[in-house]
Amino acid sequence: MAFWSSFNALQLLVGLLLLLLLHHPITTTTAIRVAGTIMHRPSLAPLPVFREAPAFRNGDACGSMALDRIHIAMTLDINYLRGTMAAIFSMLQHSTCPENLSFHFLSAHFEPGLLSSIKSTFPYLNFKIYLFDSSRVRGKISKSIRQALDQPLNYARIYLADIIPEDVRRVIYLDSDLVVVDDIAKLWDVDMEEKVLAAPEYCHANFTQYFNNAFWLDPDLAKVFEGRNPCYFNTGLMVMDVDKWRKGGYTQKVEKWMEVQKQRRIYHLGSLPPILLVLAGNIKAVDHRWNQHGLGGDNIEGRCRSLHPGPISLLHWSGKGKPWLRNDARKPCPIDHLWVPYDLYRSSRHSLEG
Ligand SMILES: *[C@@H]1O[C@H](CO)[C@@H](O)[C@H](O)[C@H]1NC(C)=O
Ligand SMILES: *[C@@H]1O[C@H](CO)[C@@H](O)[C@H](O)[C@H]1NC(C)=O
Repeated sequence: MAFWSSFNALQLLVGLLLLLLLHHPITTTTAIRVAGTIMHRPSLAPLPVFREAPAFRNGDACGSMALDRIHIAMTLDINYLRGTMAAIFSMLQHSTCPENLSFHFLSAHFEPGLLSSIKSTFPYLNFKIYLFDSSRVRGKISKSIRQALDQPLNYARIYLADIIPEDVRRVIYLDSDLVVVDDIAKLWDVDMEEKVLAAPEYCHANFTQYFNNAFWLDPDLAKVFEGRNPCYFNTGLMVMDVDKWRKGGYTQKVEKWMEVQKQRRIYHLGSLPPILLVLAGNIKAVDHRWNQHGLGGDNIEGRCRSLHPGPISLLHWSGKGKPWLRNDARKPCPIDHLWVPYDLYRSSRHSLEG
């Protein structure tokens, strides 16, 4: 909101002129960022229409303890909008202090329809939309085994610390294909113990498979894990100390591995492996209940997954299958019924706003 409302024709003109004058990309000024995104054509897909969520109000317990807001970051993309809406709805519903949630949405396009869509679905939501300048990452992406993973916006989490306001020091990053069924404040309060990231860790998963032989057989590369016990973690849910991330230059560290990948192909997936290279074995592990992932079916079309035993605070449909698609196709997996109560979708009429 803050950023988009500052968009005007004069800035656009100035931006375009500067862009013509300067051949190297500059990402620090608003005008140029706006101009940059105009050049990527906004999607013309019709926006789905959602019903309005009720107002969620703080309980008495929210009182006046001078605690900071809970900052949530997610990407915003028309193709995942239905999932994003469900995720927001789920967090509001399960929060003791829903008014304390503050959302930061990263979008790759200037798309007024997205802004009005969120506003009309959640009139009381505290949020901002930021443009993610995908030219920052476009040249650094190498083809993965899944096209969906190659979208620039999938890499936005790496740039989060640069995009959200500097006074935000901690943020919870969430994918758009999940629902939270617990009070997100419990995760927010995790003691990071000086770590830059907190997430559930999976030390029984075969870590070797995330990299290929070109990586493991080159001692110069493989030594990056020396002195660490690297474990897989899913980057679809991360508590990030953005302050530490900025000061430690983690964006550049991850980018460095993306450049290695460009030259020598050392892994097959998208944005996950370079983050593992920098941070695996060096994160704060949180309870597995905070990411029951793989519910989309682990990259195998049509395969249904069941829940792992144990308590659950977050259900994550990572993998190829998405609950809204399977439900619409009338081929839901049993697990998809848990997503339905959070679906605010009404129809796919053309939105006339914006
Ligand atoms: C929630 O937000 C209100 C208003 O900003 C603030 O006074 C209160 O301390 C917050 N409570 C918690 C538990 O974060
Ligand atoms: C782990 O994965 C690698 C590569 O896919 C495979 O060669 C290896 O046998 C696996 N190790 C175990 C213990 O399953």
